Amino acid sequence: MSKKAILTFDEKQYEMRIVEGSEGERAIDITELRAKTGLITLDQGYGNTGSCESAITFIDGEEGILRYRGIPIEDFETTPNFVEVAWLLIFGRLPTQKEYETFADELSEHAYLDENMRLHFESFPRTAPPMAILSAMINALSCFHPELHELETAASVEVAAARLISKIRTLAAYAYRHSQGQPVIYPDPALRYVPNFLHMMFSQPYKRYACSETVRNALNLILILHADHEQNCSTSTVRMVGSSQANLFASCAAGVCALWGPLHGGANVEVLRMLAQIHGGQITPKEYVELAKKKDKGARLMGFGHRVYKNFDPRAKMLGRIAGELLPQLGRHDPLLEIARGLEEIALEDPYFIERKLYPNVDFYSGIILRAIGIPIDMFTVMFAIGRLPGWIAQWWEQRQTQVNKIARPRQIYTGNTKSHYIPITERR
Ligand code: SDX
Repeated sequence: MSKKAILTFDEKQYEMRIVEGSEGERAIDITELRAKTGLITLDQGYGNTGSCESAITFIDGEEGILRYRGIPIEDFETTPNFVEVAWLLIFGRLPTQKEYETFADELSEHAYLDENMRLHFESFPRTAPPMAILSAMINALSCFHPELHELETAASVEVAAARLISKIRTLAAYAYRHSQGQPVIYPDPALRYVPNFLHMMFSQPYKRYACSETVRNALNLILILHADHEQNCSTSTVRMVGSSQANLFASCAAGVCALWGPLHGGANVEVLRMLAQIHGGQITPKEYVELAKKKDKGARLMGFGHRVYKNFDPRAKMLGRIAGELLPQLGRHDPLLEIARGLEEIALEDPYFIERKLYPNVDFYSGIILRAIGIPIDMFTVMFAIGRLPGWIAQWWEQRQTQVNKIARPRQIYTGNTKSHYIPITERR
């Protein structure tokens, strides 16, 4: 297979190296394009542009494959352990028993927040969007950990990762409790990751929340399925910010802001609103699918479509099945699940969606499972952020190790005014 690409421009030929990944993906290396030809590339939305080489996550969008450090996500379903997967993503291999226990103990020990951080929550309006609080408080957290601003070694990254991955739960739970006008529930170091989070979310001073094995497994798996997804919008944001040598906390706080968008992590909230609208009788599933096809209406079939997957998102497949299994296990019936299944069936048989290869993505069923667990809709995207945090840390650290001092700075094609001059205001018409 050719290892070179030839660009012919202005009757000249330019050779460019072909880079090939471990799964056979190939790219034209255009590192010297501008120096050699004076040309840049233009690729709005970066649909054809690789920003880096990475060994963390592999996606095959045509085949609907997703692997973390080579391990298919389906392998994590039997004994879902989010903390173990977080370690795998960040450090590149599955932890030994000792490494896992040490990391898990770190997370349990460091879930608490400095009391001054807890007081910060009082300054937010109760109606403050939790993603705004989360981003602000992740940045604020760095003020209490100046020793973690400079991370040069894997050991220091493990400490920072443990603090962030542990405390993001507490930040999320405190934001929720504040929005409800309820007292915060302090973390319990005797509890492991998911039970401790749900304890902080739902226990009361007079009644402790008990996390069932079913809920514990379901939420571990949801977090695992959200843990990384190569160079998506929020991860690319984390890398972009980290490329300026900004610290890990600032980079992840920026990632939260990118994830918040309804076209990205915010879609899980929009899916539930769409399903509720149909359930409320304002519109039928068929009518909604027709509406989503009309460009001028601005509506989209939320939870459908993906920049990379042109087949089923493997996460959506798993989440759709888990939703069907979990609800009966919890003694729940959710009419929104039937509506979702109906929407999926209509869309998958509709030429508009078939031609555009639009399938359910990770957000289509995740909200139904979160709802069954008792997570309020306003916290859905926060749950996505909790799950995605290890992926952001892994990608930030990989970049820090491989592209030291290479700040990300794309070019542009200027389409504004050609040269003009300043006109004093007294002479303007
Ligand atoms: C996530 O990148 C990642 O990996 C993200 C993510 C992760 O784990 O990090 O997987 C998480 O963000 C999942 C996506 C969640 N967002 C949604 O569910 C919102 C609804 N989906 C879309 O807005 C859209 O599909 C995107 C944003 C997900 C992808 O957009 P693209 O790749 O830019 O595709 P596009 O907008 O160019 O659409 C191509 C065509 C267009 O029609 P034409 O102009 O060709 O006629 O498909 C249409 C679009 O109008 N289209 C849809 C649609 N998605 C695309 N039409 C109706 N409903 C939709 N959902």
